Amino acid sequence: VFQSTPRAPPDVIFNLTASYKADTFKDKINLGVGAYRDNDGKPFVLPVVKKADAILHQDPALDHEYLPIGGIPTFTAASARLILGADSSAIKEKRVVGAQTISGTGANHLGALFLSRFYHPGAKILLSNPTWANHKAIFNNVGIETIDYPYWDAKKRGLDLEGMLNVIKSAPEKSIVLLHACAHNPTGVDPTQEQWKQIAEVIKQKNHFTFFDCAYQGFASGNLDKDAWAVRYFESQGLEFFVCQSYAKNFGLYGERAGCLTAVTSTPDAANRVFSQFEKLQRSEISNPPAYGARVVNLVLNDPTLSKQWQDDLTEMSGRIIAMRKALYSALKKLGTPGTWEHIVTQIGMFSFTGLTKEQVSVLKSKYHVYLTDNGRISMAGLNTSNVEYFAKAVDDVVRN
Ligand code: LMR
Repeated sequence: VFQSTPRAPPDVIFNLTASYKADTFKDKINLGVGAYRDNDGKPFVLPVVKKADAILHQDPALDHEYLPIGGIPTFTAASARLILGADSSAIKEKRVVGAQTISGTGANHLGALFLSRFYHPGAKILLSNPTWANHKAIFNNVGIETIDYPYWDAKKRGLDLEGMLNVIKSAPEKSIVLLHACAHNPTGVDPTQEQWKQIAEVIKQKNHFTFFDCAYQGFASGNLDKDAWAVRYFESQGLEFFVCQSYAKNFGLYGERAGCLTAVTSTPDAANRVFSQFEKLQRSEISNPPAYGARVVNLVLNDPTLSKQWQDDLTEMSGRIIAMRKALYSALKKLGTPGTWEHIVTQIGMFSFTGLTKEQVSVLKSKYHVYLTDNGRISMAGLNTSNVEYFAKAVDDVVRN
């Protein structure tokens, strides 16, 4: 039966983690996966999550029953408020629905599956070039074809707005446009508010459907509301859209798989119909979402004191990443490493798109035991005060030779 099953290539990101783990070199560094590490290079359990854990474990009513198919209703409602704002008109007008998903990947998948069934047949999705390594696979899996739009201008190490707008403009009406809500993965470059306005305008003119992916709220500016600006602006423009949220990064709940797919629609009736289909699709795929991570998030988002502590924890994480950007930049400056490195400090979020070539990345891996994706993306969270000098020297060497 399986004689003709072809071997699939290993996953580009998780294969790096496996190679890193297998490496016995003492100064090895993992800058691959986007997962926060503390200054000792250790996984970080957010203090607010520890508090929520303790509260949940003391609850005598906690059981292991199934959640509703669409997830915990107070969790999905709080997720919508987090991204759209507590004073969102769409929420007030009951035009918003959400389903709890298997983190951001599950939200992208459920949204993609819904569109493959209920959106214009043959509509393609426009993805930024580059984008998260999993986007293309998720949409292709449900039969939606992808088109790239330019995003990264390698020369200026910034956003290619003109290229992006041109492709969005020339795509057939009613295409789907995937936008990273903030802290673009992998480039760390976001549009400015003025640029977001231009993007929304083109999408409106062309009747495209917007598909926001928001995996890093709280990591771009360090402020949850500021990081939701683009999504809220699109809502203010009367646009309908999906938004995928992951709580892997901003709650550090990577393995718990807590996420949400929210639909902003034009009427309460449309919202109810969309939700009924979310439930139907979800039932045949996972029956009901996993409980634990969503319980933690639900507790924190619905408690003002815990929410405040969460914001503080986020500030600690984003602050350490910014400190590492500065440390790496000054180490490269001190070494006089050829090239411009300002983008290390101007890019935002968890990643930096270094501009290192595939060949340079390969030498970093083989000679220095530093693991990063071939496109030159580094997860800043993998750097700390003990390894940043070593990494800068390694970069210096591969750039010169
Ligand atoms: C990443 O881009 O490194 C993360 O989003 C992890 C993943 O699932 O790829």
